[in-house]
Amino acid sequence: MPKIVCVCLGNICRSPMAEGILRMISHKHQLGWLVDSAGTAGYHIGEAPDTRSISVAQRHQIDITKHKARKFRIEDYNEFDLILVMDQENLLDVLKLAPDQRSTQKVKLYRHDGKDVQDPYYGVEGDFLHMFDVLMKNGLEWKDVVKHQ
Ligand code: 4NP
Repeated sequence: MPKIVCVCLGNICRSPMAEGILRMISHKHQLGWLVDSAGTAGYHIGEAPDTRSISVAQRHQIDITKHKARKFRIEDYNEFDLILVMDQENLLDVLKLAPDQRSTQKVKLYRHDGKDVQDPYYGVEGDFLHMFDVLMKNGLEWKDVVKHQ
């Protein structure tokens, strides 16, 4: 069973949404993925996702309300097969914790075109709507990649 963890900075806006989307895709296509999310910073540990992410997800029948923010930890390298980071800063922060070479190979940018999933925290509702579209489009592409691993 492929185990995937999505990682952003605070684990309240982007990665819980990515987690919800990947879980929905896995369920819909019976892929058997185990999906989680985490943040590189500890500012929001234990908190529910940002209400703006919750409401955009809800419009697409995705419930992310039960997630509690947590910090990415070194053990996640053992726990997960694929570590999908949202931006270049997350990439550097996560790679700093990699225990060995094999672990670094598990870390990939969530976006397939190498761009960042922009941080919407200081943005407006439109930024959250755009984020959802980006996460959904690229999430569907992961369906094809992970299936063939
Ligand atoms: P996220 O967004 O990394 O997508 O969860 C952020 C959430 C909180 C903060 C920054 C980004 N913050 O600075 O508290």
